[in-house]
Amino acid sequence: MEAALYDPEFGYYTRSDLKRWGREADYRTSAERSELFAATLARYFARVWDELGRPAQWTIVEGGSGDGAFAARLLQALSDHSRVFDATSYCLDDVSESSRTRAREQLVGFAERVSFDCRGSFEGIYFSNELLDAFPFHRITNSGELYVTLDPDNNFTWTTGAFSVPLLADFSLKCAEGQIIEVNLEVDDWFAGVAARINSGYVITVDYGAEEAELYDPVLRPNGTLRAFSRHKFVDDVLSAPGEYDITSSVNWTQVKRAGERWGFEVVEFASQDKFLLNAGLLEELAQRITRMETDADKFALTTDAREMILPGGMASSFQVLVQRRS
Ligand SMILES: C[S@@+](CC[C@H](N)C(=O)[O-])C[C@H]1O[C@@H](n2cnc3c(N)ncnc32)[C@H](O)[C@@H]1O
Repeated sequence: MEAALYDPEFGYYTRSDLKRWGREADYRTSAERSELFAATLARYFARVWDELGRPAQWTIVEGGSGDGAFAARLLQALSDHSRVFDATSYCLDDVSESSRTRAREQLVGFAERVSFDCRGSFEGIYFSNELLDAFPFHRITNSGELYVTLDPDNNFTWTTGAFSVPLLADFSLKCAEGQIIEVNLEVDDWFAGVAARINSGYVITVDYGAEEAELYDPVLRPNGTLRAFSRHKFVDDVLSAPGEYDITSSVNWTQVKRAGERWGFEVVEFASQDKFLLNAGLLEELAQRITRMETDADKFALTTDAREMILPGGMASSFQVLVQRRS
């Protein structure tokens, strides 16, 4: 998975010839789908700035920032809250050079407050949307790990072997006979890296997943949650054309919470994305934006976006938002 997604030349996220986001591409994230997502989060971020005592300088670091669509919309919306905006530096942290290049182009208007080297420590928010599900993970059973090899016809195929990392043996105890689960060990390293950089502040993570008990339920998910997407459709065989499509698994929220606790972060909120956005003021944001719009077509489009974000059973109801804080 590491090679299929991040190989410098052929990896899905590193290739510069692929259009990954958008209506005609492979998937649409909430950030890219509607300006309301970033605008509502801008309201929430402004409240966080208040809670942090209105620092004169603070930083929003966005992990897995992709093509910068969220950053551009968030900064645009934050500029309505002028005191927060004046205090804000924004750092985009993405492993993909081609994504960083696109983000640079999208963000020319905010060039003076945007940067791409996020290694220093900061006070503020570390935000990510659909980052954790893109980390390479291990697939294990109760007795070993699944690997990828070549069959006699030179096609990729699955094989089993011993655990590549001793810690996986602990996770295998959670696995029933015949069941396959994913273990995303990178989540722990990622949190340790984030915690080392935040002096005080928040980690806000948006993704799709479940608590561990549900995720590893042998009846609900006997084969785990590994899946691949191309042109908004599931790919039947994830080994058929590595580098051509996105590969993901659902996030184990219990693990993210546990990683946070290890570094002194408490859970402030954990909710489905639709409920979170409603509480954060999505409808107020919609009403405000509509009064500023001139055409009925624009008003209709924005209202439709809002409906999609809060509709029961819609996209946002299968995503969750976790807010963790360290004082
Ligand atoms: C599914 S995309 C989400 C993009 C964006 N957040 C959005 O909502 O549209 C995942 C992004 O995470 C990036 N990524 C994956 N692993 C990363 C890592 N360890 N550090 C930083 N970025 C990473 C990928 O290059 C890709 O741009």
